[in-house]
Amino acid sequence: MLSLKDPLLLKTQLFINGEWVKGDSGSTFPILNPATGTEICKLASGNKNDTNIAIQGAQSAMQKWRQTTAKHRAKILQKWHALIIENIDDLASILCAEQGKPLAEAKGEILYGAAYIEWFAEEAKRIYGDVIPSNNTSQRLLTIKQAIGVVAAITPWNFPNAMITRKVAPALAAGCAVVLKPAEATPLSALALAELAKRAGLPKGLLSIVVGADAIEIGKALTDSSLVRKLSFTGSTKVGKLLIKQCADTVKKTSMELGGNAPFVVFEDADIDKAVQGAIASKFRNAGQTCVCANRFLVQRSIYQEFTDKFVAEAKKLKVGNGNDEGITIGPLINAAAAQNVHALVTDAEKNGATKVLGGAATHLGANYYLPTILTNVTPQMRIFKEEIFGPVAPIIPFDTEEQALELANATEAGLASYVYTQNYARIWRFSENLENGIVGINEGIISSEVAPFGGIKQSGNGREGSKYGIDDYIEIKYLCMGGI
Ligand code: SIN
Repeated sequence: MLSLKDPLLLKTQLFINGEWVKGDSGSTFPILNPATGTEICKLASGNKNDTNIAIQGAQSAMQKWRQTTAKHRAKILQKWHALIIENIDDLASILCAEQGKPLAEAKGEILYGAAYIEWFAEEAKRIYGDVIPSNNTSQRLLTIKQAIGVVAAITPWNFPNAMITRKVAPALAAGCAVVLKPAEATPLSALALAELAKRAGLPKGLLSIVVGADAIEIGKALTDSSLVRKLSFTGSTKVGKLLIKQCADTVKKTSMELGGNAPFVVFEDADIDKAVQGAIASKFRNAGQTCVCANRFLVQRSIYQEFTDKFVAEAKKLKVGNGNDEGITIGPLINAAAAQNVHALVTDAEKNGATKVLGGAATHLGANYYLPTILTNVTPQMRIFKEEIFGPVAPIIPFDTEEQALELANATEAGLASYVYTQNYARIWRFSENLENGIVGINEGIISSEVAPFGGIKQSGNGREGSKYGIDDYIEIKYLCMGGI
């Protein structure tokens, strides 16, 4: 049983048009704790009718909201931010229970998520238009920026708090309303956020949350609606492609934060201890379940053994278990299927010649757990090189020259994050400019921040979240041409 200082933050109903409701079907589905397999609660299961009611409510609520001043919207966002910080312990407990990440990491996510709200409260006031010098003396040309309309947000289970705030905050700041479908495995953090938004004074209908056992039905209702003008999705490339197709009929603007396959490149002139620190931080954050996690370690042959030995020594210090227990640094994976997928990649690599120098399945802890695992002798032909691992497994591949490292780094359809460790400044520029990724960590393993643009190229998606660019995804530019002057 989840023990909270404020038990009212644990919600078991849908949040539609400012009310907690049972939903059209009246049915429920269980929310499980991945660390123990036990049921946290049963949640009302939404469907397409609930989704359509939420969309209608959003459309009508935003007519007034878009006319308010940015200052007014910023104040409500700031209040929401303050309430999240006040309730951080409860929010972290909910997040740890439904997602599995260690409590300290869950608190880190709450702060990270709240930072997007604070940031976009400030950015709301900086949605500037332009005055454009005209070719014609009798004309004056201007642009204004306006809220795009109702936004649908579909968020993943790996960051049940931060992926919500980084979509909802810029949308509300811009004057939009949002219908959110959180992942069905981790909806409780989203619902707790909605309760705090309500307490912060967010008017009814501007944020509705519909979630249910049938995610496809809810997703389809969101993409089919012509009232929804924008879809922001974080999740797998496979689902992202499907959603883009579904949005084609109503020509919605989309932002897609999809899968990655991040190279982590270590040159022989790098500070190896720092590279190992960065590797641990990047690879094992959230048990390897982030789309910016280092997925392929490319290490120059002359330092391959030294890097591997030091990496193994540090990875051995990580403690796997229930994230709610003291001292645990790696929680369970989201479910047994996730652990099986990771294991299948490791088994395939071993079958094709890779050597497991650390880790493997953690069956003694339960079907959802996987140990920090390091593989050497990995080759580009193996599945583990080509696919996103989404688990605590680090394949290490040697390279000889900078050209070879670049070729290996870019040998993927994904283009989200990448990492490079070197002390050579000319190489830093050269290599960073040639990497086919939206984000490059240079001598740094943790790159995410509300002040910086997060997003990918190639099949990792489009759009940017956070930073001064993040609000653009929720805005239309209107051109005003004034004649007769
Ligand atoms: C993600 O994995 O989708 C997000 C990771 C981050 O924000 O750092």
